[in-house]
Amino acid sequence: MKTNYGNWISTPMMKTLAFIAVGFYALTGAFYVIFGTEQAAVYIAFLLALFATIVTLYMAYCRFVFSFEGGGLMGRIHTYLLDHLAWDGIGTVLDVGCGSGALSIAAAKKFPLAEVQGMDYWGAMWNYAKEQCERNAEAEGVGARCCFQQGDAAKLDFPDNHFDALISNFVFHEVRTQKDKYLLVMEALRTLKKGGTFALHDTYGNRDMYGDMDEFIAAMREEGIADVSYIPHTEQEIPMPPPLRMMLRGAGLLYGTK
Ligand SMILES: C[S@@+](CC[C@H](N)C(=O)[O-])C[C@H]1O[C@@H](n2cnc3c(N)ncnc32)[C@H](O)[C@@H]1O
Repeated sequence: MKTNYGNWISTPMMKTLAFIAVGFYALTGAFYVIFGTEQAAVYIAFLLALFATIVTLYMAYCRFVFSFEGGGLMGRIHTYLLDHLAWDGIGTVLDVGCGSGALSIAAAKKFPLAEVQGMDYWGAMWNYAKEQCERNAEAEGVGARCCFQQGDAAKLDFPDNHFDALISNFVFHEVRTQKDKYLLVMEALRTLKKGGTFALHDTYGNRDMYGDMDEFIAAMREEGIADVSYIPHTEQEIPMPPPLRMMLRGAGLLYGTK
């Protein structure tokens, strides 16, 4: 059985971009037929078509670099995250926004005694599904230790102080059901046992979303999170080509112990 981990730049996203580019070329042609070369509208439509083409090509390149079959960057980011999870692998780890199960399964492989609970809302945008996670876990030989459940990261269906470890990668900034990202991070930490360990990777450098990270971390400590470390600009730490650094600008890792 083969794995299918998909891509953070999904097929529907690529199709939408290509459709927009083709649409602008069609518009350019239509304006040309109607107005000839006299009207500025022809040139504007053409410039928009060129811009859409460049964006589509850039995204196609990034998609290739991310992919497990191509550049393998998704896997390298997961490895980086798990390398910062100071866990003995005994007990259960929760992966918030597990997507296609890639990080959950990497955790199951790294910690052979661990149980893994993945959760995601599995919306249309990424083409990911619960059954896909289950098939991937089976294909990797860790199906018996991995469990996947639908839910909302903003209001997790898990009790307080329940998990031994907590992981999440590039999810919080995507969550539309909770605008306050501090509350979102604290909701994930709510489910972690006191003394449990966490590694949460996201675009914390986006000040519009996260505000000042020093204040964010100070608030976490005040709330009783025993040990919090923060690595800003992880896009500079993880090996990747410069165009990908541009896309992942402001990524960071929050990790430590509750
Ligand atoms: C960029 S993907 C990352 C997937 C996975 N964490 C990984 O590293 O491969 C973002 C994920 O966030 C999930 N997501 C977005 N909003 C969510 C929500 N409200 N609750 C749970 N998951 C959510 C999406 O379904 C998607 O799988």
